Amino acid sequence: MIKSEEIRELFLNFFKKRGHTIVNSSSLIPVDDPSVLLTTAGMQQFKKYYTREKDPLKDFGSQRTASIQKCFRTTDIDEVGDERHLTFFEMLGNFSFGPVINDDPLDFGNGGYFKKAAIYWAHEFLTKELGLKIDYTTIFGGEKNVPLDEDSLKIWQEIGINKIEKRGREDNFWGPTGDEGPCGPTTEIYLEGIEVWNLVFNEYYQDKNGNLKKLEFPGVDTGMGFERLMKVLQKTETIFETDLFEPLREILDNFSGEIRRKRIIMDHLRGSVFLIADGLFPSNLERGYILRRILRRLLLHLRFLEINFDVLEKMIKAIIEKYKAFYPELDNFDKIKKVIFDELQVFNETLNKGLREFNKIIKGNESEEALGEKVFYLYTSYGLPVEISKELLREQEINFSQKAEEVFKQLFEKHRLISKKEENG
Ligand code: GLY
Repeated sequence: MIKSEEIRELFLNFFKKRGHTIVNSSSLIPVDDPSVLLTTAGMQQFKKYYTREKDPLKDFGSQRTASIQKCFRTTDIDEVGDERHLTFFEMLGNFSFGPVINDDPLDFGNGGYFKKAAIYWAHEFLTKELGLKIDYTTIFGGEKNVPLDEDSLKIWQEIGINKIEKRGREDNFWGPTGDEGPCGPTTEIYLEGIEVWNLVFNEYYQDKNGNLKKLEFPGVDTGMGFERLMKVLQKTETIFETDLFEPLREILDNFSGEIRRKRIIMDHLRGSVFLIADGLFPSNLERGYILRRILRRLLLHLRFLEINFDVLEKMIKAIIEKYKAFYPELDNFDKIKKVIFDELQVFNETLNKGLREFNKIIKGNESEEALGEKVFYLYTSYGLPVEISKELLREQEINFSQKAEEVFKQLFEKHRLISKKEENG
């Protein structure tokens, strides 16, 4: 079975041979981009090369780069636990910054390329290098003032892919990250029914008001989900059976309990380890709160599976061992363990008391208002975070309705104002 370590290498070598400079993953904490809390895509560290505020030839000696980027997305956080959603993931990407010098896939130089080279190489990498079969592809079908992507359609046909679906803006237009930046129509590659590789043709810049204007020169930004690719390559049932999660799975196999809980543990612990390695600490603010939230949810599920801190320590070690050769910043066990343990030990007390009270007062037959009030009470009197209460309710199939949410929010807002007044004397 081909291992994830080999695939990273194959990918980077394939593009290196084709004139791309290999660039390390940037930190999960964006360096110079206040528009986003965390790094969500490979192109993020290259934004200024698309707009020509920075010169790729000067910085990389090429208009082509390739990377394997650590990404963290919160959009699907509530879905984590099913077969395919993750917060942290790796993204394989190749990038071209304009102007287009040669769009010929046989040109292995260092000039900018566009749709033809990008599509030919994606096809070649998947089908020749990895021996996979493309199921179908999608292209941008045209919407509002962005036309149908006829070029991509023709290129796929020329290659011999016949199943090509046209889709709208929702599916086949990517970006920008944050509230402004480069973006454009995409063509997406599906393997075994899963979207694996997204090829973005950055032809536009979207400003803060949502207006599109043409970039001076178009560029390419591709992103391939590594866990999904490994699932297809290793023919596993879900991404969690790939070798990327193997060391964690081996430990969790010793515990009985719902698979959903184990997946949340695998995802949230791996994500926390990577975030902490990049210098993040849990806090009540913005990105720090994202880390706090996943650590707290992690503890909830560790508790349900009766996994103690010794086992947790083993799992942290297992993640570091699996990834540190490629991501050397992970080689910092003592610090990573300390940040996780400090946070969880403090929260453990709160969780114990909060859970006891939750079980005592939540009956499942209360009105929507009463449910909102009870969740608020658990928060103010026991410090039980609303996300944890919601998760527990979901598990018991108790609906925390829009109305319950509103009641909670109103009470919360009132409470906040009173606390503020008291603080200010
Ligand atoms: N930047 C391409 C993607 O995230 O899919």
